[in-house]
Amino acid sequence: MNPTKNRISRREFGKTTLLAGAALATGATGVCGAEPSPRRIRTGVIGCGSVSNSYLPNLNQCPYVEVVSLCDIKPERAKRQAERFKIAHHYPHIDAMLAGEPFEFFINLTDMQQHEHLNRQALEAGKHVWSEKPIANSLAAGQELLALSRRKCVRLWGAPIVVQSRQFAFMARQLAAGKLGRVAAAHADYGHEGPDWSAFFYEKGGGSMPDLAVYNLTSLTGLLGPARSVMAMLSVVTPERTVGDKDRIQVTEEDNSMVLLDHGNGVISHVQSGFNYFNPHGHDGSQETRHTLSIVGSDGFMGLVGYDWAPLGVDLATKDSPKMRRDETDARGYVWQQGASLAAEVLSTGKEILLATPEHALHVVEIICAARESSATGRRIPLTSTFKWPVVV
Ligand SMILES: NC(=O)c1ccc[n+]([C@@H]2O[C@H](COP(=O)([O-])OP(=O)(O)OC[C@H]3O[C@@H](n4cnc5c(N)ncnc54)[C@H](O)[C@@H]3O)[C@@H](O)[C@H]2O)c1
Repeated sequence: MNPTKNRISRREFGKTTLLAGAALATGATGVCGAEPSPRRIRTGVIGCGSVSNSYLPNLNQCPYVEVVSLCDIKPERAKRQAERFKIAHHYPHIDAMLAGEPFEFFINLTDMQQHEHLNRQALEAGKHVWSEKPIANSLAAGQELLALSRRKCVRLWGAPIVVQSRQFAFMARQLAAGKLGRVAAAHADYGHEGPDWSAFFYEKGGGSMPDLAVYNLTSLTGLLGPARSVMAMLSVVTPERTVGDKDRIQVTEEDNSMVLLDHGNGVISHVQSGFNYFNPHGHDGSQETRHTLSIVGSDGFMGLVGYDWAPLGVDLATKDSPKMRRDETDARGYVWQQGASLAAEVLSTGKEILLATPEHALHVVEIICAARESSATGRRIPLTSTFKWPVVV
């Protein structure tokens, strides 16, 4: 390791984690009593498709990570990314990856339907796990994974990390300070014309909720508290699509969803997502400047500028200060794809800098499953899961 290079990159990377790090450094918190030892965490990444192009540069810049192996069931993808990102080992199957070059941290970037069983296999092999969303396909399965991780004395985390942004922290602080008065309602939406590269987004276990609404559901429950019950209407607007990996496919999961959440104390929110939303900016979050999330109360209004996964600021108007004012326009290093790098920092330093918790991710999984049940039955579905709230920003 080049110490000079390491010092510079560590300082630069530190900028991205100041928010959480300064407030939440709680000292050594090893897993099952083990003391953390500062080191680069030997890491294996499974799934070398689209999102790996965002994760791998971030991981390669992170001073707490050493990516030692890649894996993809399309072996040419693992080989290509290994060459591009200078990673020594690549494998065509998880069995070969787990039996190959030793590592301790497993990052799962595969199809949504594959996460649950691959996460289980990695946990059983004693690996810490970071999973793209969802961690599992049902609350019960996710809770089993969490119990397994505790038995194995390893950590389990899942995307998204929307609660990590400066803008989320700003909004949470306004709410905690009562700036909006009696909070009543919130709305959030996220949509585009749908991914055109892989069929899994539209097949059982896919859909616009686990792919898109998951961000808004995490933000709104993070800001307003765990939901107590859910009502929803879902539909399929485009029943057939052409996608890169399978050509013509039937769309069986929702590509249009409206979900209502009851947060208790009269607070109701609404999350809208879909794969049939014309969007002049396509998948490019940096160009979105409208409010995609808003919260209103008796004394104020707050609107998040841009997407919650790539926020650009927060607009606030209150009775005391009714002229809309924009705050937190600087991301200060936050990027949506840094969750696994932050998890590696936790493993290396023992500092609990990650605000995203598996319990919160599983609460959102339960909301998504409940929305499906509500839409199918026309009933309001009570929820059983919760997470530690408020999120301490
Ligand atoms: N594409 C994005 O910009 C983006 C952004 C945020 C989150 N995500 C999430 O990331 C995940 C992957 O999305 P993507 O767009 O990269 O999909 P993708 O289809 O481009 O890539 C998925 C890769 O996983 C591989 N794979 C599938 N099953 C596997 C298995 N059992 N073992 C090993 N490899 C396997 C596939 O061969 C493919 O190369 C999804 O959960 C998605 O919701 C994607």
